[in-house]
Amino acid sequence: MERLRVLVTRRWPEEVERALADRFDVTLNETDEPLSQQRLAAAMDEFDILCPTVFDRIDADVIGGGDRVRLIANYGVGFDHIDLEAARAKNIAVTNTPGVLTDATADIAMTLLLMAARRAGEGERELRSGRWDGWRPTHLIGSALRGKVLGLVGFGRIGIATAMRAKHGFGMKIAYYARREADADIAAGLDAEFHPELSSLLAASDFVSLHVPGGEDTAGLIDAEAISAMKASAYLINTARGGVIDHEALADALSTGRIAGAGLDVYPQEPQIPAALLGLENVVLLPHLGSANSETRIAMGMKALANAEAFARGEALPDLIA
Ligand code: DGY
Repeated sequence: MERLRVLVTRRWPEEVERALADRFDVTLNETDEPLSQQRLAAAMDEFDILCPTVFDRIDADVIGGGDRVRLIANYGVGFDHIDLEAARAKNIAVTNTPGVLTDATADIAMTLLLMAARRAGEGERELRSGRWDGWRPTHLIGSALRGKVLGLVGFGRIGIATAMRAKHGFGMKIAYYARREADADIAAGLDAEFHPELSSLLAASDFVSLHVPGGEDTAGLIDAEAISAMKASAYLINTARGGVIDHEALADALSTGRIAGAGLDVYPQEPQIPAALLGLENVVLLPHLGSANSETRIAMGMKALANAEAFARGEALPDLIA
């Protein structure tokens, strides 16, 4: 196989880096610091394959930086950080890593849901700061899950995996909003209720979990109006993309008690966290941990590698996006 030049923008699990180096002429970013936009743009002229992460903004300026890269093999499933139109215009193929981070992300959605419902973050902060004064019947009372409605916004792989955990592990009822109704088998297995209108799902749910892709189509989907449709006792969970929520409206709703709580793993301008959220007790804030377990991170790398290998062999790309 021709040894194509590959740039990996951040460090990957060692075994994947080794497997990649067996087959390609690989340049690793040894510093593991984010590469500048200028460096990414220059890379377009130096490499055949670029392997970015969600943290790299592969915009039109970067893509216009050179003519050598023919494949962007993204290390991750979400691709709203890549300008697909600009890639398409230059005939650059773009692939992602679907499927392998479904369970890990659904686990984090449930982690956030449990932590928010049971006030686990508040409790930990209280204990570590020496403010816990012992057990009492009215201390840090949260919300039960059994019999409560989990409303999923988006019902793809990760939404369904979250619904399975919620239904079969915690006895929750499942409702969802999506562009179209799910296959009868899936909906029946989960006894899931389809809501063709977002506002009706929001009004019916005790917990709302977001599972839509990021990007222009979903930007600000959960704005002040959407939040006002939620129950005052409801919780909002986001493991999708930060841009889906208007965080000013969310901070307002959390601080005024308009909704009970939230659990967030993603933010519009990572690693910045909307300042208004940081002082609030009723929001759980995680640092984009959705796919962060070792099995998943290896599987993501192996998938990116499989796409690069298919590209090098001139075969159809398994996970072609554009
Ligand atoms: C992805 O792959 O898009 C995730 O956000 C990374 O965890």
